[in-house]
Amino acid sequence: MPGLTIGDPLPNLDVDTTHGRINLHDYVANSFTIIFSHPGDFTPVCTTELGAMAAYADKFGQRGVKLLGLSCDDVQSHKEWIKDIEAFNKGKKVTYPIAADPNREIIKQLNMVDPDEKDPGGQIIPSRALHIVGPDKKVKLSFLYPASTGRNMDEVVRVLDSLIKASKHKIATPVNWKEGDAVVISPTVSNDEAQKMFPDGFQTADLPSKKDYMRFTHV
Ligand code: BEZ
Repeated sequence: MPGLTIGDPLPNLDVDTTHGRINLHDYVANSFTIIFSHPGDFTPVCTTELGAMAAYADKFGQRGVKLLGLSCDDVQSHKEWIKDIEAFNKGKKVTYPIAADPNREIIKQLNMVDPDEKDPGGQIIPSRALHIVGPDKKVKLSFLYPASTGRNMDEVVRVLDSLIKASKHKIATPVNWKEGDAVVISPTVSNDEAQKMFPDGFQTADLPSKKDYMRFTHV
C-alpha cells in the first residue's frame, strides 16, 4: 500500500471539521488518536459505523483515546448527516469531530483513497481506512477496508488495548489476544531482564527446539 502507513509521521494538516478548524498534531497532542474515513455522507454502512463509534466513545475515552472521523462531503452536510446517525443510533450523541475534505487533498495525504470507488460525479472517495496515531504523532496501526465491508469496533478496542500495553511494557500480544489474557515477552528482552521487568514472573513454553522464546506473563 503506497503512502502513509505504520511508522510514518502523521502529516500535520489543518482540517475543517464539525468542531471547527483542527490542526492534526495539536489534536493528537499526547493521546492515541483514531482517524477513520468513510466513503460518503448519507450512506448506510457509514451511518452504522459512525453510530458505533459514538456508542463506543466512552470506551475510547476511558483509554484516553481521541477520535476523528473523515468524509469528503462538506461540514454542513456532516452536520445534517449527524442528525440521522444519532436518530439511527437511538439518540447516542456523536461527540467526536468529523473532518470534511471537499478538495480530496486530505485523503490523498492520509492514504485513504479507494482505488476502485468513485462518487456519482466521478470524484475519488475514501475507502474505510483507519489509522491509529500514537502520542509521538506516528502511525502505529492501519486498517484498510473496502466500501462494501464495515469495520468491527470491538477489534478497534482490542488493538488499542494491545498498542497501549505494548507502549508501556516490552511485550507483544499473541493471536486472538484480549484484555486480561497473557501477553508474550518481547524477544529482545533477556531472561535476566525479564525477571526484573515482570515481578510476577513468567512461564516459558517447553518446545521441541528447547529455545526459550515463548514466554508468557500478565501486565
Ligand atoms: C455505505 O456506506 O453503505 C457505502 C458507501 C459507499 C459505497 C458502498 C457502500
